[in-house]
Amino acid sequence: MTQTRVAATKSESAVSTRGLVKRFGGQRAVDGVDLDVPAGSVFGLLGPNGAGKTTIVRMLATLLAPDGGTAEVGGLDVVRNAHAVRRLIGLTGQYASVDEALSGRENLYMIGRLLDMPAKAARARADELLETFGLTDAARKRAKEYSGGMRRRLDLAASLVGTPQVLFLDEPTTGLDPQRRNDLWGIVRELAWNGTTVLLTTQYMEEAEALTRHIAVMDRGRIIASGSPDELKHQVSGRRLRVRPVDAADLPVLQGLMAEALGAAREEDLGYVTGPLAEDEKLNQVLREVAAKEIALADLSTFTASLDEVFITLTGTGREDH
Ligand SMILES: Nc1ncnc2c1ncn2[C@@H]1O[C@H](COP(=O)(O)OP(=O)(O)O)[C@@H](O)[C@H]1O
Ligand SMILES: [Mg+2]
Repeated sequence: MTQTRVAATKSESAVSTRGLVKRFGGQRAVDGVDLDVPAGSVFGLLGPNGAGKTTIVRMLATLLAPDGGTAEVGGLDVVRNAHAVRRLIGLTGQYASVDEALSGRENLYMIGRLLDMPAKAARARADELLETFGLTDAARKRAKEYSGGMRRRLDLAASLVGTPQVLFLDEPTTGLDPQRRNDLWGIVRELAWNGTTVLLTTQYMEEAEALTRHIAVMDRGRIIASGSPDELKHQVSGRRLRVRPVDAADLPVLQGLMAEALGAAREEDLGYVTGPLAEDEKLNQVLREVAAKEIALADLSTFTASLDEVFITLTGTGREDH
């Protein structure tokens, strides 16, 4: 039993990197990244533009040689075993070129055949994907005549013809309308359900939260936080206490006593004061002091910051908090 467990552990990471580095000129686009993507999961690599997400994906897909560190896909080194890695990830979609002279349907069918699918299955898969990506009407048009958005959807469809063990989706929903985005989310969930490991990059916390239980937040080439959405929320801002006095004249006193008890507190809109609630006991402390000062409270609640706020806090984009 223990033996089996040990064997299984070895293959649990579908993607694993240690100290991965990529330089462009003097800049470290990827600056010592450690990643572990559990097999069969959807993993979200989240970060703003220029964080280094695409560079990591390109190294994992064997399209770009690392300058330092190691990277494995399915336990295989991406440099020494590049060929074997390519078979595992199914080198399709954005990593292979769609043939401009062929129609959307022909492209998808061809890829299916190249992946050894029987003709009938390849046709069925092509039609299914065309439907999913809203390309049924354009199925017989040559890819050359597709608009940018259609072409993007065709590229995505192409990456899903086979059912690769590990799939890299680099900002797959950028530029998709909400309906198509939801369709794609459905496909990603289905793939993961069927055992495919998906490494998805995104700039959207909402997307990471909708699809993944494992998130690594990247900024300027480094992983600055990782964990489940809940873990990230707690790591960054934790729970907060929000209180509103009956009489707005009590706001300064309330703000003062909360700042004292909680370490920080600020007045918000609509007569509320909020502060970080690191421990439950602090709640009682605040309540005791509110009672001692005879402040009447109209409202009291605790809440956790949204993942968007976490992202903003971590990457320093947007407003200042606290
Ligand atoms: N081929 C390249 N040559 C020079 N610099 C590059 C190249 N590719 C990416 N970079 C730079 O590396 C950094 C990370 O880029 P990238 O991996 O594309 O980020 P992301 O995908 O997170 O937006 C950026 O500063 C980008 O300008
Ligand atoms: Mg990118």
